[in-house]
Formats: sequence, C-alpha cells, structure tokens
Amino acid sequence: KRLALFASGRGSNGEALYKAMQEGLINGEFVVVITDHADAGIVERSKGWGIPLIAIERSPFDSKQAFEQAQLDALEPYCVDGIVLAGYMRIVGAGLIARYEHKILNIHPALLPSFPGLHGHQQAIDAGVKVTGCTVHFVDAGMDTGPIIMQNTVRVYPDDTEDTLSERLLPVEHATYREALRLFCEDALRIDGRIVHYI
Ligand code: GRF
Repeated sequence: KRLALFASGRGSNGEALYKAMQEGLINGEFVVVITDHADAGIVERSKGWGIPLIAIERSPFDSKQAFEQAQLDALEPYCVDGIVLAGYMRIVGAGLIARYEHKILNIHPALLPSFPGLHGHQQAIDAGVKVTGCTVHFVDAGMDTGPIIMQNTVRVYPDDTEDTLSERLLPVEHATYREALRLFCEDALRIDGRIVHYI
C-alpha cells in the first residue's frame, strides 16, 4: 500500500515502521511525510528516506477547515491508500476522515478506552494501574475512540515517572504498530462496528 506518515515530533514510531518496510516485513511504503511542525524530529529522521516531506503548520491558516483543506490538497497527488499517524498531536479533521474512511491508523500510549488524549502515561500512573500499554486503532471523529486494532501491555511500577514508563513502553509501541500495519497492508483487517477482526 501507498502510505502517508503524519508526525508532529520525535518520529521513533515512524522510523521503526520505515525500517520494517525496508526489511520487507510490511507490504507498504511511505510515499510522503506530513508534519505540522517544521522543526519536528521526524524532519531530520526522514531526510535519508528519499521521499518528500511536507510541513503544513496550523498558524498561517484562518480556520481548521482551511488547514485541513491544505492537508487534503497536499495528499491528493500521492494517491495514498492509508495514513499512519505516529505522534501526530492534532485531532484529524472530519474532511480527512471522510476522504480516508477506515484508512487512518493511530497509536496511543495507553490501553484505550482508558486514558485517551494527552499524557496517557501520566494518566495511567496517576490512576495507580499496575498494567498499561499501547493501542493501535482506526481513527474516527472522536479523541482516540476509533475501532481498536491491536494492544499490548507493560507493567507499571510504583516509582514510575512519565519518562521511565514511556521508555519501557516505546519498544512495545514500535512492535505493536509494526504488526498492526502489516495486517492493514495485507488487507487482513475487517471492521464490524467497534470490533476489528483479523481475517
Ligand atoms: C508515542 O508515545 C505515541 O504513542 C504518542 O506519541 C509518541 C510519539 O513518539 N502518540 P514518536 O514521535 O513516534 O517517537
């Protein structure tokens, strides 16, 4: 599949997926990277990938609609079959969701539906849970509410901080996203309401 990568930050998930594609583990390729931060870590990381990076920041646009339209216009020539959100820190607009229905994937650093939104690790620590994890899901109009594709867990220890927990979780995120995207690219996922079946 032809995929767009959306990232706002460091880009470690994007890089892990890129490497898996290079190794032939995922039957897909990133054809464009889109960021909403021209100085995001993903900009440096993806320099050697030989694909275009497009920075579309929110601030020059008067409205969310105009910003979203710019994203749609930028994407259109690449004819993508899917969009991979990896550390993309904005709510995806309704137009993008409608245009790429059931084709946008996201990773969240908690076991949804628990702890959606920002600071998933800290929310888990504050709640005193003993196990947390990550969730790869399809994106719908809500905040981290779309059908769940895959989840994996890590332990939470009493002295954990956001930093120690995210360090433990990050490799699990990479592995989980790799497997979820592999299935997506094999057309091995079927959505039935809230339930995602592996076929
Ligand atoms: C990850 O923890 C991801 O779950 C969250 O943001 C972080 C992104 O990390 N949505 P990276 O940019 O992929 O390194």
